[in-house]
Amino acid sequence: VILVYPDKDALSKAAADRFVASGRAAIAERGRFTVALSGGHTPQQGFQLLATQPYVDQLDWSKVHIFWGDERNIPPSDANSNERMAREAFLNSVPIPAAQIHPMYIGGTAPEAAAAYETLLHTYFGPDGPTFDLVLLGLGPDGHTASLFPEANDLQDERWVIPAVTERWAVRDRITLSADAISLAYAVVFEVEGGDKAEILKEIIEQGKSYPTTYVVQHARDVTWLLDTAAAAQLKLVSE
Ligand code: 6PG
Repeated sequence: VILVYPDKDALSKAAADRFVASGRAAIAERGRFTVALSGGHTPQQGFQLLATQPYVDQLDWSKVHIFWGDERNIPPSDANSNERMAREAFLNSVPIPAAQIHPMYIGGTAPEAAAAYETLLHTYFGPDGPTFDLVLLGLGPDGHTASLFPEANDLQDERWVIPAVTERWAVRDRITLSADAISLAYAVVFEVEGGDKAEILKEIIEQGKSYPTTYVVQHARDVTWLLDTAAAAQLKLVSE
């Protein structure tokens, strides 16, 4: 489903609403909420809302388990860390038990971090695979999502967590959920804003052009796009 919002504020509110709704449903059905956070800039405002009224009182944070969809292989003291962004935006301000927040960066190499995260996910989800209740994703103008980049050919990798490298985007060495792992989630929500994403969105949503994001969408169980009007500008959407 594709939902379009007039501006960044409305989009961020929709993202926070979706996070809370998804969490409440998961806790009601399964007694816990396992969510993999996206990185970059887009999700930050929505994350900040989660630490404010009314959101902060709408979720039983003691049953929330935080993971990441991808991370740059740098410490959380670094301005480019996805973990740092999320901790500052809301994790430092909501009562989630510290042991239920699972950063990807462990101080070693990206392959070491990926292997350690894979082991962690096995303890959480068992052999059937990481069935996250929610995986939040962004979209790069080159069609990447998480740290699954077009120039890599890692979409068939059967591991759940893999190292990645980018020469184009902030911080070269990355850790990412694999396309396979993302495909097992109960729900995937993309949050995309800004005119610089309009072209790639049209290529993926309307033309089905082959990018990592297209592959993820085609294999996911349930996909929601949360867009602002600028990002949706080139889509021929049937109005309600
Ligand atoms: C990352 C993100 C990445 C991001 C897109 C969009 O670690 O960089 O996970 O996949 O979602 O690059 O980034 P913006 O939201 O900053 O445009």
